[in-house]
Amino acid sequence: MIELEAIRLLDLEDPLNQFRNYFFHQDNEIYLDGNSLGKLPIKVISQIENTVKNEWGKQLIRSWNENWLNLPERLSNKYSKLLNTSPDEILFGESTTVRLYQILYALIQSGKYPNHLITDCLNFPTDHYVLQGLTKQFKNLAFTSVEYGQEIQADIDHLKKVIQKTPGIICLSLVTYKSAFLYPIMELNEFADQRGSIIVWDLSHAVGAVPIDFEKSKTKVALGCTYKYMNGGPGSPAFLYVKNTLLQSLDNPIQGWFGHQNPFDFTPEYTAAQDLKRFNNGTPSVLSMQAVETGVDLILKAGINTIRTKSVKQSEMLIEALKNELSPLEFSLQSPENKSERGSHIAIAHPHAWQICQALISGDDKSPKIIPDFRPPSIIRIGITPLYTCFEDLWWVVYQLKNIVESKSYLKFDKKKSQVT
Ligand SMILES: Cc1ncc(COP(=O)(O)O)c(C=O)c1O
Repeated sequence: MIELEAIRLLDLEDPLNQFRNYFFHQDNEIYLDGNSLGKLPIKVISQIENTVKNEWGKQLIRSWNENWLNLPERLSNKYSKLLNTSPDEILFGESTTVRLYQILYALIQSGKYPNHLITDCLNFPTDHYVLQGLTKQFKNLAFTSVEYGQEIQADIDHLKKVIQKTPGIICLSLVTYKSAFLYPIMELNEFADQRGSIIVWDLSHAVGAVPIDFEKSKTKVALGCTYKYMNGGPGSPAFLYVKNTLLQSLDNPIQGWFGHQNPFDFTPEYTAAQDLKRFNNGTPSVLSMQAVETGVDLILKAGINTIRTKSVKQSEMLIEALKNELSPLEFSLQSPENKSERGSHIAIAHPHAWQICQALISGDDKSPKIIPDFRPPSIIRIGITPLYTCFEDLWWVVYQLKNIVESKSYLKFDKKKSQVT
């Protein structure tokens, strides 16, 4: 195993090492959740306090005009810089699940695409559920979930053959939640477009982790959460991206007052907003939206390319250590080996993964507590968030995985899984 001193030098040389100081940390604890919930940016504490104490407490209803109504637009502005698109093509609010439902419903109803929903076995369960639900609501809507016989990477040729044979509306996660497989977004967008199809990209595990350029990649529709690599906090609102040229043929299935052209005219008839705001529903959740801003500011300040460079370096180091130190102990890599096909977490499998995760989280007298996450049946996900993950964190996880298995200390932990992992 590489000496800890050598690893500490990598941290000293890291151009992002100061960014760690912008986040809240606890002593003796390493956070490698992969990545279900990003860490708390320290500035959010005073921001939320100000929103609660002053804006809500003192300014009350006046805060809508003073600060809250334009908050979603401020966020769109910042995200548009990150994703290279125009601010009016990005909308904040709701959860990823609700946004996915709304946009798929609108695309189906537009009649612009063949009546066929496609996803694959690597996609996140909520995406599957939403697609399956829509097939119950729309008659004559076919549904295909493409299988690859394994869950590490998509077989792009096979996926293309399905699209070629049965074109339609495709929903994929740009970085998959289990293995971190990263799809060739531009190649697939072009392929789908040439077959009269469209891809709706779920960017939940990609945004803030890998560079994404909507313009260059010819992306038409995308959405994603803001609580993972964007560090927006638990339940922070999702974003939706729709290319302007597509918008006019899409109607929001939920005709709420915030999607009205002039919500504060309070007219009884619904007239949809001309722009993407037509996909708004009701009152935005101000408290959680407020927290998103600091997260995106930090990503913009660090630069997504610098973040990606560090993420690749850290992932390669972890994979190397996995091969050398951990594979003799029944651990196996469940993420793509090729860095250009991988997002920013590493999945490793072990027959006793659940108990090993509990042992990692507990820590012991030799090691800090380490928080990864577990995905059934046997995957330990190790999230790399270059803004705050240091090289030393990864050294410790390898050290401790080895120690836990060699000493069999995982046997002390219950085999029964708890709810949030
Ligand atoms: C890829 C992906 N899509 C969708 C979701 C669900 O998002 P939400 O709970 O915000 O609807 C998740 C949650 O982790 C996810 O990982």
